[in-house]
Amino acid sequence: MSRIAYVNGRYLPLTAAQVRVEDRGFQFGDGVYEVVHLHRGRFTDEDKHLDRLDRSLGELRITRPVSRAALAGIIREVVERNRLHANGLVYIQITRGAARREHVFPAARTRPTLVVTARAIPAFPRDVDAWATAIITGPDQRWDRCDIKSVNLLPNVLAKQAAREAGAFEMALVDADGMITECASSNLWIVDAEGRLRTRPLGHEILPGCTRAALAELLADERVTLSETAFSLEELRRAREVFITSATSFVRPVIAVDGDPVEDGKVGPVTRRLFAAFTRHVQGALSNAA
Ligand SMILES: Cc1ncc(COP(=O)(O)O)c(C=O)c1O
Repeated sequence: MSRIAYVNGRYLPLTAAQVRVEDRGFQFGDGVYEVVHLHRGRFTDEDKHLDRLDRSLGELRITRPVSRAALAGIIREVVERNRLHANGLVYIQITRGAARREHVFPAARTRPTLVVTARAIPAFPRDVDAWATAIITGPDQRWDRCDIKSVNLLPNVLAKQAAREAGAFEMALVDADGMITECASSNLWIVDAEGRLRTRPLGHEILPGCTRAALAELLADERVTLSETAFSLEELRRAREVFITSATSFVRPVIAVDGDPVEDGKVGPVTRRLFAAFTRHVQGALSNAA
């Protein structure tokens, strides 16, 4: 069965789905996106993702192409037409539309471009030890509005490629002050040498991860206290536990940083507990599916 994409009001086979050459997403990276995980017909943290999409659009002054309710309907239709009944990802991309190439915003009547695609992914990880991965570190070369989920992902692409070439999954990004911001496509957390769970506070330097927010809400039940304080590369190297969060990684243990094992190179107890808590969250999330 060929995959189906939604483009500006039409559902088309992926191979026939197109945006215009002068689309500002293609010409300038002038657009935003979201990725929502789907588990057995249920979207994980859908409201958080749609809220963040609204915020990204607002920050860039891109007009929303359809109402929120209509968008919720479209993503369900794309899921349905792709017969995604197990695990999947839905991608939503909105650009400022197609217009004669000029940096300044096009005429107000220019219609934003809306693309929704979906694809199946492997089953939700059951075994936290098998889900563990390795990261490397490198300079954060991005702009200073990383809180906007823009389709401008060139530094992230280069960072992920460098990680892949080093046999790792992610790159933890280090700012000019030697502090960790986040990873190329995930937020980074540590249990520091003193046993405190830490992740960088929200600000322009990181994406406000929906998984980060959902996990933070689950911590009280786990009787774990979160310290939202930036940590340095040195602190990352000395951490007892390290893990990443994202809509596609969920809670993913990191057992090696730059080739050195984190503590004894095994998944630590806090990460194990939070992986289990997030798994329950994904499986029990209130169904928003049609
Ligand atoms: C740079 C960056 N940080 C963090 C995240 C995690 O965000 P979320 O949990 O909403 O997927 C992502 C997700 O793609 C990302 O690209």
